[in-house]
Amino acid sequence: MREKVVAANWKMYKNPQEVRSFCDELPRVLPVHLERHIHIYPQAVVLETLKTTLSSHHIRVGAQNCHFEDEGAFTGEISPKTLKDLNCFGAIVGHSERRQLFHETNELCSKKIQALQKHNLVPMYCIGETAEERKSNNTLEVLKKQLTEGLKLCDFSKRFIIAYEPVWAIGTGEVATPEQAQEAHAFIRSELSKLGVKEATILYGGSVKSENAKELISQADIDGFLVGGASLKAQSFAEICKIGLAGINATQNTEKKMEI
Ligand code: PGA
Repeated sequence: MREKVVAANWKMYKNPQEVRSFCDELPRVLPVHLERHIHIYPQAVVLETLKTTLSSHHIRVGAQNCHFEDEGAFTGEISPKTLKDLNCFGAIVGHSERRQLFHETNELCSKKIQALQKHNLVPMYCIGETAEERKSNNTLEVLKKQLTEGLKLCDFSKRFIIAYEPVWAIGTGEVATPEQAQEAHAFIRSELSKLGVKEATILYGGSVKSENAKELISQADIDGFLVGGASLKAQSFAEICKIGLAGINATQNTEKKMEI
C-alpha cells in the first residue's frame, strides 16, 4: 500500500502535561482532513496519555520501539501485544539511534517486524547509511543489506512502512538534497519490487523542516516524512504536515473513511 504520511518521532521528549498542551494546539493549526495521514510516536510511558487526549481525532499513534516477544522476563521492554491492547497503530523499528546506541541489528529488526505484524500493527522500518558509508560510496549496498536482512520475516501481504533516514542527516540540520533522497528512495522502491512488493510507502527523515519539505516532497518516490526535532512544536509540525500532505483534499478522505 502506498500512501502519504507525515510522522512525528518525539524521541525521549514530552511529559504528560507537554503531550496535552501539544494536543490542545495541534487541531487549531491543522486541517482535520489530514489527520488520517499523520502519525505520532511518543515515548512509551505517555502512549496512553496521547491516545486518550487524541481520542476524538483520527491521528495514528504508535511506539518508538518494541520487543519481539509478547511477554516474558524482559525487564524494561515494550510488548507488541500490549501495544495492540492499547489500540496503537504500530511502532518504529530500527531507528538509527536504536541501532547505534542500543546495538540493534537487521536480524533483530526483522523479528520485531514479524511480531508487530502478527498483531496487525504496522511497523515503520528505518534504514539509512552513515556519513562514512556515503563517503566511501557504499550507500546503496548498505540500504540493500538493511532491506534484505531486516525484511526477511516481513509479511509483504500486510502493511509496513519504510523510512529512509541518512544517519548523517538526523538531528544535524544537514538535510539530504532532494536528489540524494530521490536516488535512495528510487533504489529502495526497486529493491522492494525485486522482493515482490508492488507498492510501498517510503518516507524521508533527517532534519526535515518546513523550509526544506516542499522540495523533498516534490520528488517522485518520496511519500512523506518522519520528523524529529521539528515535530516537537505543534505549529512547526502542522506546517510540515500541510506541505507533505498538500495533494490530499477533504473529499478524498471522506471516500477513504467509507472504505474503512
Ligand atoms: P530529525 O530526526 O528530524 O530531528 O533530524 C529525525 C528522526 O530521528 O527520525
